[in-house]
Amino acid sequence: MVRRGYDVLSEHYERAFGSETKYGPWMWELLGRVPEAGAVLDIGCGTGVPVARALVAAGQRVTGVDISEVQIRRARELVPGADFIRADATTLELPPGSFDAVVCLYVLIHVPVEEQPALLELIASWLRPGGWFLSTTGHRAWTGTDENWLGGGAAMWWSHADAATNRAWLVRVGFDVVHEEFVPEGDSGHVLFWARHHTPAPYAAGSEPELVRGTVTVRGRGQKWSTSTTAWAKAVGASWGTLWPMPGSVRCWYAPVNLER
Ligand SMILES: C[S@@+](CC[C@H](N)C(=O)[O-])C[C@H]1O[C@@H](n2cnc3c(N)ncnc32)[C@H](O)[C@@H]1O
Repeated sequence: MVRRGYDVLSEHYERAFGSETKYGPWMWELLGRVPEAGAVLDIGCGTGVPVARALVAAGQRVTGVDISEVQIRRARELVPGADFIRADATTLELPPGSFDAVVCLYVLIHVPVEEQPALLELIASWLRPGGWFLSTTGHRAWTGTDENWLGGGAAMWWSHADAATNRAWLVRVGFDVVHEEFVPEGDSGHVLFWARHHTPAPYAAGSEPELVRGTVTVRGRGQKWSTSTTAWAKAVGASWGTLWPMPGSVRCWYAPVNLER
């Protein structure tokens, strides 16, 4: 329903909510946090305006992902300097640790609430250690449909957890919630989160070792550490790490043993 809704309502959404400047302060903040020519993933990028367009103009390398064919077609026309993928973010496969930031504005609210923790886990895996996640989520728990959204003749569906649940999910998958703010909309609103992926290095500033990155197979799901990952960590001389158990394989970062500690 969401995919079809945005296919039909792409231009209605743009007329109702589109503006080059609507996220201006958030984009400036993001640009101050990512490296020059950094890699940014925009999940639920819509038409690529304003997020992908603003980031590309500032020299970032942007990948946009959207479930709607029409949104992606328009994004390719409007922002030729970014790469766009038509995909459902919940089943997307991307290389682990490959982005400096992930942006996900007004998108999680369209993902079934029971699938949101797994998507957050994926997002954490796509970020480099220390990478930023800029996201809006629901403020109150609610799931519902509007049969004729924006008067455009198509239905739309939303699925929210409340702010505290969203915060807890972020922490559980390895984020520090750096900032949280209520963003009003009509008589309700959303929550904006700035979250930073843990920098996995308890080393003194200036003595951080090179990180070892690897993908290993995990037996079973939901284990923080498994026999195989621990063995792998030992094999590469890693002392500790952050990992995100996924079905099949696991993406993880380890700091090699610092022998001087
Ligand atoms: C409310 S619009 C927001 C667009 C843009 N992020 C913005 O803030 O202007 C939500 C977008 O998320 C996309 N979307 C919804 N569910 C998605 C999913 N599971 N995977 C990828 N995109 C999704 C929709 O097609 C739509 O373009």
